[in-house]
Amino acid sequence: MSSPKPSSSESVQSASRDSVATLDGVELKLAHPYQAPGEWIGQGEVLKQLLACWITVDETDLPLTPRLLGSPGVGKTQLAIAAAKQQGLPLYIYQCTADTRPEDLLITPVLSRGGDIAYHASPLVSAMITGGVCVLDEGNRMNEKSWASLAPLFDNRRYVESIVAGITIPASPDFRAAVTMNQDESTFEIPDYIMSRLQPTLRVGFPNKQDEMAILQYHLPFAEPEMLALTVDFLQHSHELKLDFSPRDGINLLRFAIKRLAQDPDHPVAQEDAWQEALEKCLGDEALDLESLAERRQRTLGGDSVPLGLADLFFDPDDPLHPDRDEDDDD
Ligand SMILES: Nc1ncnc2c1ncn2[C@@H]1O[C@H](COP(=O)(O)OP(=O)(O)OP(=O)(O)O)[C@@H](O)[C@H]1O
Ligand SMILES: [Mg+2]
Repeated sequence: MSSPKPSSSESVQSASRDSVATLDGVELKLAHPYQAPGEWIGQGEVLKQLLACWITVDETDLPLTPRLLGSPGVGKTQLAIAAAKQQGLPLYIYQCTADTRPEDLLITPVLSRGGDIAYHASPLVSAMITGGVCVLDEGNRMNEKSWASLAPLFDNRRYVESIVAGITIPASPDFRAAVTMNQDESTFEIPDYIMSRLQPTLRVGFPNKQDEMAILQYHLPFAEPEMLALTVDFLQHSHELKLDFSPRDGINLLRFAIKRLAQDPDHPVAQEDAWQEALEKCLGDEALDLESLAERRQRTLGGDSVPLGLADLFFDPDDPLHPDRDEDDDD
């Protein structure tokens, strides 16, 4: 891909620290790109699929904006970061939340010291102007109204309109995007007309044993082999049982166990004890017995459940107020 070329109505300058762009006479302060290293270990196919979305094969061709789906902590954000790094493009990450308003995604007016209004471009608009990659992280936490403001960006129009600054912002031909989405319950249903613009769907699965070991070693190069092995075995067992414990959970628990071991050199704790403690403190009591947890999950997911009654619409199966609740469920 070529380097971004500002159009005639815009210019981008990099001041000593802050980059500023001028669009239709409006000066915009740009966000800073994300600089941390981003290596993707294993699952090469999904990385290739993501990179393919961003290729253009002809001057008239357009890049695709895929959605990356997967359980929390499986590596969706990491994958998007690694893809942007591989392309050598500046990377901007926008963390979507339930409170994100349409203008937050675009341009925010800020009162400067002199009493003037300065316009700050969001990470998304900064990526559009500089020809970088924007990762809209956890996109399905954002409501429909905010998504609606992005509809023209993700079809062949490739622009957004900022009401606050009164300008239309065209995306550089080098602008690329991806949206990560979580599959938990604290999310919004994104309307179909937006979903149809976020294609294809790329699923990030749990890593295999070898990759999981490499991921843990990459993030915690100082971890002892025994501690790494305990963690990888635990995670692989949990993946086999279709539980949600992720590489992130493994990294956190291992980090805590290592800190506990290092804490008091005069009274060393056994590695196994420190690891067990970290497991319980990071992932909860239920992580101590994965088989029982998997069985309980299976039951709630309806493995052997009876057909839904009216009460099931209003009460959780374990709710003590559920009229059909079996008292034996407690044990
Ligand atoms: N394949 C991988 N290569 C390198 N690091 C990885 C890989 N998979 C997961 N990780 C690491 O695991 C942790 C969790 O990954 P990440 O934050 O990308 O997950 P996520 O799917 O975006 O989670 P969430 O749904 O909570 O946003 C990070 O520290 C990340 O670096
Ligand atoms: Mg993420």
